[in-house]
Formats: sequence, C-alpha cells, structure tokens
Amino acid sequence: MLPPTVTTIAEVRRAGAAARALGKSVGLVPTMGALHEGHAALVRAARRRSGFVVVSIFVNPTQFGPKEDFAKYPRTLEADQKVCGDAGADLIFAPAVEAMYPENSFTFVDVSTLGDHLCGATRPGHFRGVCTVVLKLFNIVRPDAAHFGSKDYQQARIIVQMVRDLNVPVEVCVEPTVREPDGLALSSRNRYLSAEDRALAPRIQAALRTTRARAVAGEVDAARLESALHAELSAIPGARVDYARVVDAETLQPLTRLGRPAVAAVAVFLGTTRLIDNLPIAECGVRNAE
Ligand code: PAF
Repeated sequence: MLPPTVTTIAEVRRAGAAARALGKSVGLVPTMGALHEGHAALVRAARRRSGFVVVSIFVNPTQFGPKEDFAKYPRTLEADQKVCGDAGADLIFAPAVEAMYPENSFTFVDVSTLGDHLCGATRPGHFRGVCTVVLKLFNIVRPDAAHFGSKDYQQARIIVQMVRDLNVPVEVCVEPTVREPDGLALSSRNRYLSAEDRALAPRIQAALRTTRARAVAGEVDAARLESALHAELSAIPGARVDYARVVDAETLQPLTRLGRPAVAAVAVFLGTTRLIDNLPIAECGVRNAE
C-alpha cells in the first residue's frame, strides 16, 4: 500500500502528534528522492526502531553549488512512493521549496572544521545546506530517531556532531552502505553512468579495500596510503579523482600516521558523474557497520 504523501509542515506535524498520542515513537528518513535499495534499507531500519516512520523527499537547493546538478537531480515521486510503501513507511513528507525556505529565511547552520575537508573542500557551502535542512526537518517532524547512510560518511559525522553540539533530542542512526553485488555503493547518481563507466565503477571500492589491506599489512604512513589510493583510482580509465584521503574517523582531519580510528574516503568523477565512497581502515568514530 502507498503511504499518504503530505506537503505542508502543518500536516506532517499533525500526523506526528497523532502517532505520539497513540504511544508510538517517530522515525525519520531524510532523503532527496530518487530512492533506491539503499534508501529502502534506511526505511526498514526506521521501521524496526520506530512505531511511525516518516520519509522526507526534498531536493534541497541550499546544498547544491551554482554549477552543480540541482536542476537535473532526478525527481521520481511516483516511483519513490512505491519504494516507501514496500519498505514500510507510514508517511511521506514532500514539501515545496517555498514551504521549506519562505522568503526572508536568514538562518543557516554551519558545523565548522568537520565540513572543511573532503567534500567540503570542493563543495563550499554544501554541508551548511545539509545541516540547515536536516535541522529544519528535525524541528518539523520532531523524530525520536533519524536514519542516515554511511556512504555519506562526512555527512553522517557532521550530523552526529550537530545533534551533539546543539542538544537536538534525536538519536542519529548511521546505517551500513548498501552495495551492488560487484561492490559499487548504491547512489541516486549511478543512473547517470554510461555502460562503460558503470563497468569501471566497482574499482573505486576495490581501491579502498586495497588501502585497508595495506593498512592491515602494517602500513601506517597516511601519506603513502593516500598516494597509493590516488594512483589506483587515477588508473581507472577516464576517472578524475576529486579527493582520496585517509583521515581521522572522528575529526575528519588529515592524519600523519595511523594509530587512531581512521577512514579512507574518496570522491571520483567518472564522466560527469561524481561518486563518493569510503571504508573504515581501523575501527570507526561513527557507528558504521561495514
Ligand atoms: O543525503 C541526502 O540525501 C541529503 O543530503 C539529505 C540528508 C536528505 C539532506 O538534504
């Protein structure tokens, strides 16, 4: 059965209040739509944790740069409603941009430091947009728990930090990355890959696994790990490496030597499609079940 879709803040608040009045906890899965099996896994995790599950579908303009793919980001509401229904969501919240950002909105949330590296270095303002919309969704839906994927490791880490720093009463649950059988992390952007690039894309995850194997074999020099990772990714025909870093899993700062929980994180363009992925190479700072 398809869950109802509401578009106004008043409607989603009313539905949440009705669920809470019945003694149900509320779970939220924030998304930008174009839902795939990775999102379905988040909804199923929310279903296990909470009595009433809301999926938000909102392509958030403030997290896209002027030259990024906001206009062409896939909008597939009908298919998304089916994914939500099959995975057990109770309600879809799909607001218009004007509902989320009325004229004269002046307040933004910025998590300093954690957003400076990795994706933040090449996407200035991205995490400010993410944090702002996620905090707004938390205030609108008032969930007890919210579920995010660990493919966006930096995003998950930043949201955990925001919730901690601003005392937001929500449990942030970071769920494992869902992958294709060949290792490619599921992403709404995978649909843009040409057949040739799709065939090459699993080499991103393979390169991360090699990095982890090097660390397990005793390599502790982060710069050497990074340069081998960069070389391996650059060897993928047609690939352009945005970044290939080994960073502190908690602070996301560059490391000189391993010795603390670390994560290898990459962003790679195949054609015009930017793919991100990561792998903990020692025990991680955010709960990451990989
Ligand atoms: O991960 C996403 O899809 C988005 O960044 C999020 C968390 C829904 C905020 O717009």
